[in-house]
Amino acid sequence: MQGCPYNGPVSIRISPRLAAIPRYEPGLTTAEVLARYGMVSATKLASNESPFPPLPEVAEVVAAGTAGLNRYPDGPARALRRALAERHGVGPDEVVIGNGSCELILYAGQALLDPGTTLVQAEPSFSLYGHLAAAAGAETIAVPLADDDGHDLDAMAAAVDERTRLVIVCNPNNPTGVYRSADAIERFVDSLPEDLAILIDEAYYDFVDRPDVGRTLSMARERPNLLVTRTFSKAHGLCGLRVGYAIGGAGWIDAIDRVRQPFNTNTLAQAAALESLKHPAALERRVREVMAERVRVEAALSDSTWAFTPSQGNFILVRPDSDPAAGSSGVHEQLLRLGVIVRDGTSLGCPGRLRVSIGTPDENAAFLSARAQLARSAPRETQPGRTQT
Ligand SMILES: Cc1ncc(COP(=O)(O)O)c(C=O)c1O
Repeated sequence: MQGCPYNGPVSIRISPRLAAIPRYEPGLTTAEVLARYGMVSATKLASNESPFPPLPEVAEVVAAGTAGLNRYPDGPARALRRALAERHGVGPDEVVIGNGSCELILYAGQALLDPGTTLVQAEPSFSLYGHLAAAAGAETIAVPLADDDGHDLDAMAAAVDERTRLVIVCNPNNPTGVYRSADAIERFVDSLPEDLAILIDEAYYDFVDRPDVGRTLSMARERPNLLVTRTFSKAHGLCGLRVGYAIGGAGWIDAIDRVRQPFNTNTLAQAAALESLKHPAALERRVREVMAERVRVEAALSDSTWAFTPSQGNFILVRPDSDPAAGSSGVHEQLLRLGVIVRDGTSLGCPGRLRVSIGTPDENAAFLSARAQLARSAPRETQPGRTQT
């Protein structure tokens, strides 16, 4: 039996596919940064998290739920499926719950891809997608973004052929934040074969400030080949518990249920998500605050020489006006030294750029003030107001 060599003291016969699977690179944790630079506090704007803790009612439900942890969770997460189905006007057999939406995206790869098939996606986009085809021995067709940093949907449609089993659209796109309108998505979907599986990853849909946001769900009700994934990680502030969901045709849901491990979402995650759904007004206030802060940070960047891509997510991709020799990594490091943790674009397929999550007003102020401090030490600041698009 052949396998790819394991680069350690003992060789085990692992699948040769593993060599093709990109390792997911997590951002630096606050603890790592504090230890590395000997600091007592830092501002973390690196992982597109919510700056707000879970709602107090949610925290209470989680605390109370620990008493029942000697029992397995409800495997299919029936109550949460029902609540989401009701909220979105679909049947419970058109909803599936995941250990984060990441898990559902990976399941889509497992359920659909085989050697000899392709996955069409944009590049750069959410790095997890690179895992799917590689793990299945299939091929990723990565279609470069359009000039505005959004999906080039025409080029993606052109990349689809008879080998294609799965198409992923990330909307708004991580790491660029660009949103494609519901009309554009609808035209794209309708240009593809009716039996081709299309996954629309809407992890950031809560932060979209456009009237057509969310229309993909009504599209999915009419088109069984469409699956929309969403998450409780961002607006609901529950990324530490891991819970996401997908809505789509019964065929899509059945495919995911077949590869899903029986108890994939834990009891506390299910209870927290259910409770969080009961407080839409409180969540809406938090989301509005993040969106207002996004506007404020973009306005401040517009008055600087750091270019940025206008964003519809809870993050902004910026291009520092840096010493080209230092690149984004240089500025990334300088920001770390000033106690501000952002994501170096190099690891996201965007060399020369930084992805900055939107935090509380104080956290965003810390970023903007560190940026201004760097600008003062670099005398090249001359032409404010550029955006990247
Ligand atoms: C585009 C995109 N999709 C999915 C996810 C995963 O979210 P979850 O925490 O639900 O697994 C992320 C997380 O950052 C993301 O950026």
